[in-house]
Amino acid sequence: MFYDQFMNPVVLDTPISGIRLVNSWESKIPLKEQIHLNIGQPDLSTPAYIKEAVVDALNKNLTRYTDLMGEEYLRKAIVAFQQAFHNLTYSPREVLVTAGGQSAIFAVLKAILSPNDNIIIPFPSYPPYINAIKYNDAKILPLETTVNDNFNIDTGKLRSILEKEPVKALLLISPGNPTGTIIPKKSLQEIIDFSVEFNFLIISDEIYSDIIFDDLAYPSIAAFPEAWERTIIIQSFSKMLSMCGFRIGYILAPSPIIDQIKVIHHTMNICANNLAQYAAYKALEDRNQLKRSISELVKTYQDRRDLCLEILTKSDTLSISKPRGAFYLFPKVANLDMTIFCKWLKYNYGVTTVPGSYFSTEQIEEHNQYFRICFTAEKEQLHLGMKKIVSALEEYKKT
Ligand SMILES: Cc1ncc(COP(=O)(O)O)c(C=O)c1O
Repeated sequence: MFYDQFMNPVVLDTPISGIRLVNSWESKIPLKEQIHLNIGQPDLSTPAYIKEAVVDALNKNLTRYTDLMGEEYLRKAIVAFQQAFHNLTYSPREVLVTAGGQSAIFAVLKAILSPNDNIIIPFPSYPPYINAIKYNDAKILPLETTVNDNFNIDTGKLRSILEKEPVKALLLISPGNPTGTIIPKKSLQEIIDFSVEFNFLIISDEIYSDIIFDDLAYPSIAAFPEAWERTIIIQSFSKMLSMCGFRIGYILAPSPIIDQIKVIHHTMNICANNLAQYAAYKALEDRNQLKRSISELVKTYQDRRDLCLEILTKSDTLSISKPRGAFYLFPKVANLDMTIFCKWLKYNYGVTTVPGSYFSTEQIEEHNQYFRICFTAEKEQLHLGMKKIVSALEEYKKT
């Protein structure tokens, strides 16, 4: 049977995320000796007090559907947390609990995009956005950022895109995946001014907002009063508390927007997982444990970042921007096709990374000179992995 004839052509034309694809690449190094630095999945355990909450939730028989929006006790806890940690003011009516950030992304884009709508994405960016936009027949207007500018948005370039055609939304990820860049306040203010002048929505993916290094403050765009009414925040418990498998995230937005997204969310999920909602609530409720867990996690990632940078910056082949949050490095190797190199690296050295082109669009060829490294592995592994990357680059350049 030729099954493609029954499939949606848009789906047939959408590849699986490159982050997973690299797992299928061959290596001559035995699996046990390979070092996997491709998936942005925290290797740290979920804090014990959150695991205990899952057992509690089971004992309380929390096995039914919940309120579509998410249980009110969790939405209240999210409101209090965002106020205390990020100076964001929302009411429980403006919170929609979702099955992770990923389903939040899908529901938000489905709710706002019609065919042929334009959406601006600064690249490099998180690949599933590209697929989700494609499924809506909308059009991505790419905005290139590079290591030379520490992946900051060039607002001159942004203006020139906005002047050409109407735009429905701009999608920001801060701290960025795959760059770890935090969008500074000054750029946020300029973006907000544009959003008013050109009348577009801001989607702000803030799922790494609590993994911030060097004691920097994290500015959320929705904390700027003029931005609040046109911002949709995507959030998640996955990375901040090593809860990826819980599949729990949320959306913050003005209630008329939430009311529309809620319909899509209901169609997709009915509601988020009940046990995970209770665990997320407990995670936020105990402020002391929460603060302790986040600060331990940030310290661990910051130490790892420093270790990786110490080794990689010794190589003059690599240009690197110091990530200020999240757990990614996105170095550039000028004039090298990194899709070919990353395959070669995995085959010969057993180190799995992801080529930069997988986080970009084919219109931006420059990004194929980058690759992403996740520092979601133990220090010994990272030490070995970085040494191998540097040696591999030297060997490869000679060939
Ligand atoms: C920027 C960004 N947004 C959203 C997600 C989705 O995360 P989750 O669905 O686990 O909340 C990820 C996962 O890596 C991500 O990097």
